[in-house]
Amino acid sequence: MSRPHIVDVIAGDGIGLEVVPAALRCVDALAEQFGFAVTWRDRDWGSERYRRTGAMMPEDGLARLADGDAILLGAVGAPDIPDDVTLWGLLLPIRRAFLQYVNLRPVRSLPGVPGPLSDGSGIDLVIVRENVEGEYSEIGGRIYRGRPEEAAVQETVFTRRGVDRVARFAARLAASRRGGLTSATKSNGIVHTMPFWDEVVAGAVERINHSGPETPIRLRKVLVDALAADLVLRPREHDVIVASNLLGDILSDLASAVVGGIGTAPSANLNPEREHPSMFEPVHGSAPDIAGTGIANPTGQIWATSLMLDHLGESTAAAALLAALEAALASGVRTRDLGGTAGTDEFTSTVLDHLTTTT
Ligand code: NAI
Ligand code: MG
Repeated sequence: MSRPHIVDVIAGDGIGLEVVPAALRCVDALAEQFGFAVTWRDRDWGSERYRRTGAMMPEDGLARLADGDAILLGAVGAPDIPDDVTLWGLLLPIRRAFLQYVNLRPVRSLPGVPGPLSDGSGIDLVIVRENVEGEYSEIGGRIYRGRPEEAAVQETVFTRRGVDRVARFAARLAASRRGGLTSATKSNGIVHTMPFWDEVVAGAVERINHSGPETPIRLRKVLVDALAADLVLRPREHDVIVASNLLGDILSDLASAVVGGIGTAPSANLNPEREHPSMFEPVHGSAPDIAGTGIANPTGQIWATSLMLDHLGESTAAAALLAALEAALASGVRTRDLGGTAGTDEFTSTVLDHLTTTT
């Protein structure tokens, strides 16, 4: 057996404390089955810690994560603490310090998961969102607070290096799938940064196509407003979508809603060069409205954990976990958000049953 994978576990707040243990149960079973080992480093960081100490994580928190192989995150956020405190106190510093410049969000029709479309089957796309620059910058400010002259300015920052690396990642991913790459843009209205985005994306794709990939990449740039409509009307026509931080944030929530909603969607914050740990989390938040009642759907967390196993090189185990998850959903055992009656534990046990019967 090779050395254990070192994974930092930040269950966080609310239902994070319920769905993370569900995912860990699955990995422990897989580790035994496939002969690998994981050393879990439990981090009790989050809102409870903030109330106690005034900080979401310890001062040297980032340094403590730095030598790990991956970070598994539940969710952070609590009704009594402003969301920018929880976000900027934990999540965003991790994404930026560890250059997790790709936010990967697979979007797929799952068996037995009803979506809002009359035919939601056969959807299989991946959104690659730029994760460390773009519209989410700290550059800007407010002047004349509270006066009629009050004004606010916030700058978008696109760098050639930042756009190029995320475009290359998306293009290579497309080449390994069906070859389709959609670039979300708004270069008709945003006349400086978005034409720059278009140019750099096109250049990156051209270079990769020039190197002769097995599947040449077909690049389409689509205005984001039209793309939003397209994701509802023709979702099957998309393969990989690459988008800036803000546009990708919006498109990925839209796309996950099209295939059945927030409880099932996973996301990976990747440092593709593997110079720093990558972070894996469900798309949903801490869901304070149902926290503590044992009914949270662990699907998004378990799927995110499968992405993590794949990143750690345990691709057979990752595929087995996803297959067991799909088999569990197909068997009709579902949590309440999907119209079923199962609680978190019962659903997780069903996934575990399918792990041992399908492999
Ligand atoms: P949310 O995703 O926590 O909940 C939205 C709705 O979906 C709620 O009705 C909730 O019960 C339901 N829901 C979400 N996940 C579910 C699951 N796994 N199973 C069953 N039902 C589920 O979003 P909301 O309410 O806007 O935010 C709550 C808190 O979470 C806020 O403090 C917010 O800032 C934070 N948040 C944190 C995120 C993160 O840690 N990455 C992401 C999104 C929100
Ligand atoms: Mg979002």
